[in-house]
Amino acid sequence: MSTPLSELPIRLLTRGDLAPCADLAEDRGWAREDHKWRLLLTAGTGYGIDDPEGKGLAAACVVTSFGPDLAAVGMMLVAGRYARQGLGRRLMVHVLREAGDTPLALYATQYGRPLYQQLGFTDSGGAERIGGRFRIPGREPLPTTRPAAPGDLPVLARLDAEVLGVDRTPMIARLPAFADRLRVAEDGSTITGYAAAWPTPETDVIGPVVAPDVETAKALVCSLAMDSDRPVRMDVDVRHQELLDWLKENGLESAIRTTVMTYGIPELPGDWTRRFAPLSLATG
Ligand SMILES: CC(C)(COP(=O)(O)OP(=O)(O)OC[C@H]1O[C@@H](n2cnc3c(N)ncnc32)[C@H](O)[C@@H]1OP(=O)(O)O)[C@@H](O)C(=O)NCCC(=O)NCCS
Repeated sequence: MSTPLSELPIRLLTRGDLAPCADLAEDRGWAREDHKWRLLLTAGTGYGIDDPEGKGLAAACVVTSFGPDLAAVGMMLVAGRYARQGLGRRLMVHVLREAGDTPLALYATQYGRPLYQQLGFTDSGGAERIGGRFRIPGREPLPTTRPAAPGDLPVLARLDAEVLGVDRTPMIARLPAFADRLRVAEDGSTITGYAAAWPTPETDVIGPVVAPDVETAKALVCSLAMDSDRPVRMDVDVRHQELLDWLKENGLESAIRTTVMTYGIPELPGDWTRRFAPLSLATG
C-alpha cells in the first residue's frame, strides 16, 4: 500500500534536484529558469516532497535566509496532479517550524495567498510584473551609470543592507556570476544605486533595482536594457507608480500582480523608497 500524502517525508533539496525543480515549475506553467534554481539551491535551502509515483518532485519551495531578522520564501510549487491535497500546507507549516523566530516574507500569487493568510501571513505590499520589448527613450536626460567593477562589491553589499534592512552579502557576492550585467549609479564618487540583469529562457530579468530616486532607477533600467535585444521583465513595487508608468510608456506591459506578505513583522524592513524591484520574487 502506498504512503498517504500526509506522511510523505519532506527532504532537503540539493543542486542534484535542479531538473526536477524545473520540471515542477513547468508543470504549473512557470518558466523552467534553471539558472535561478541553481542560485536558489546554492544560496538558499530547498525543501521538497518526492512524488510517490516516482515522477520527480510532488512539491517544493526554497527559503533564503538573511540572518535572524528575515528569510524569504519562494518557488512554492505543488505538482498539478497533487493540487489541493494538503501538500502546500504541509510544506509551509514545515518552513514555519524550521524558521523558528525568524520573520518571513514572500510574494504571493492569487493561488498561494489564501493558504498563507490561513497560516498567519499578512499583506504588506504588492509588486506588478511588467515585461516586453523595452523601447529606449529618445531625448530623456537621465543620470549616467557605469558597469560595476569587482572592487564595488563591498560597497554594493553595504548599500543593499541599508536599503533592504538586512545583510544579503552572500547573495550580493553571487551577483556578478549570476547576472549578465551589473551597473551602478554614483553621486560624485559615492555609489548610490545599483541594478542587475539576469537571464531566463525567454527574457532578461532586471532586478534588483536599488536607487536613490526614480530618475536614477530609470537610468539603471535603461542602461541594462540597452545592452540586449531580448525582451525584459521586472517586478516593480506598486508604490513606484512613476517608474511603472514610464516603463509602460516605453513598451512594457503589465502581467501579473503579486502580494507581499510577511510573518512575524508588519512589513519588509529597510527603505522601500529606494527599493524599486527585487532580485526575484523568490528572494526579495
Ligand atoms: C499555491 C499552491 C502551492 C498550493 O498548494 P496545494 O497543495 O494545492 O494547497 P493545499 O492543498 O495545501 O491547500 C491549502 C489551502 O490553500 C488554498 N488554496 C490552494 N489552492 C488554491 C487555489 N487554486 N485557489 C484558491 N485557494 C487555494 C485553500 O484555502 C486550501 O485549503 P482548502 O483546500 O482546505 O480550501 C499550488 O496551488 C501551486 O503550486 N500553485 C501554482 C504555483 C503558485 O502559484 N505557487 C504559489 C507561489 S506564492
